Parts: sequence; structure tokens; C-alpha cells
Amino acid sequence: MDLFEAIIKRRDTRHFTNDIVPDSVLKLCLEAANNAPSVGLTQPSRFIFVDSLEKKQKIYDLFLDESNKALAKIKDEKRREIYKGLQLQAILEAPLGLIICSDHSTLKDYTIGVQSMKETIDWSVCCAIQNFWLALTAQGFSLGWVSITNSKKIKKIMNIPEWYKPLGYFCIGKPATNYDNMPMLKQKGWLN
Ligand SMILES: Cc1cc2nc3c(=O)[nH]c(=O)nc-3n(C[C@H](O)[C@H](O)[C@H](O)COP(=O)(O)O)c2cc1C
Repeated sequence: MDLFEAIIKRRDTRHFTNDIVPDSVLKLCLEAANNAPSVGLTQPSRFIFVDSLEKKQKIYDLFLDESNKALAKIKDEKRREIYKGLQLQAILEAPLGLIICSDHSTLKDYTIGVQSMKETIDWSVCCAIQNFWLALTAQGFSLGWVSITNSKKIKKIMNIPEWYKPLGYFCIGKPATNYDNMPMLKQKGWLN
């Protein structure tokens, strides 16, 4: 698959088969991620894989809490009903979980590019995430980005160092659908 095809075919995936994700696939994804640009060459991306069912269950419980809070904020009754029917994660179903963090200890007083825009450290990790995602797509796999969570609590569950900032929880596996070649939120009529 060439780069442009991977860009077009990439989907946020919340439905997976039971196929495991081979180490060889992950190795290429990590290589792609590590070749992403980073502010001042900080290379701040850190990858914490999750395969413990017990940890996944705790992370799923966090999702449920945060998702209920999000639901409570939606005023329109019709939209609330659609929201309830959306699958917005696959934490328990996906064969592999991943937390991607930005390592803020890479920030120094001499780091080029961050002094007036501190957020650039997290943006650098987003560049790496996109590379990782495209590399998965090119190899017939995919991920689902879960930001409906609580970073502080995830850090506690996973014993993540204080200076790491999680940018989300990622469900990884082989897609069970391509959502008719469109974003699932479009396919389900949430947005056009
Ligand atoms: C920063 C970020 C956070 C996201 N968080 C969630 C999430 O918590 N749950 C979810 O179902 N999708 C999440 N998504 C996926 C988006 O909804 C999705 O990318 C968008 O609808 C477009 O669909 P596509 O990625 O398949 O093109 C997130 C995407 C990004 C970039």
C-alpha cells in the first residue's frame, strides 16, 4: 500500500477481529513513530503496551465514567439517544492496548522551539501517533484513539511516571469493518 492509499484508508477503529498483532507489525509501527518530527529533536514519545485484562477492565471503567459525564452534558434528547448507541472504544475487545505519552523530562532550558510554545512537546507526540497509525494501516491493522478517559487515573493504574503525559489510550488490532469507507461518526449519522 502506498502512502497516499494509507492516508485515505486510515480509519479510527472500534471494531476488531480476534487476530493478534504480530511483533513484526509493531516493530515497523514504532520505527515509523520514531521517525516523526519532534520539537527541538526532543523525541518525547513513549509507548506503554497494555495486555493485562485486569488493567484493561480498570481503564474501561474509567471510560464508562467519563462517557457518562459527556452524555450528561448533551442537552438534545435525540442526540443523547444516538450517543448511547455509538461504540466509542474497544478497550476490552481489542487484542492489544497502548498508552502513548509525551515525556516532559525531555524539555530543557535550551530546547529549541518550546520556550514560547510549551504545547509543541505534545504536538510532537501527535506527529508520532499519526505515523504509527499509518504504519498500522499499511500493514492491514488499525487503532482506535480513546480520549474519553482520565489521564491522572490512567497514570495511577499503570504506575506511569509523574513527568509522562498520556495523550490517550489506543485500541489496536485488525479491523473487523471499514465503516463503508467513511468515518464511523459519519456512517452512524452523528455528523455529516
Ligand atoms: C485526539 C483524538 C481523540 C479521539 N478520541 C476518540 C474517542 O475517545 N473515541 C472515539 O470513538 N473516537 C475518538 N477519536 C476518533 C475520531 O472521532 C475520528 O478520528 C473522526 O471521527 C474521523 O474518523 P476517521 O479517523 O475514521 O477518519 C479521536 C481522534 C483524535 C484525533
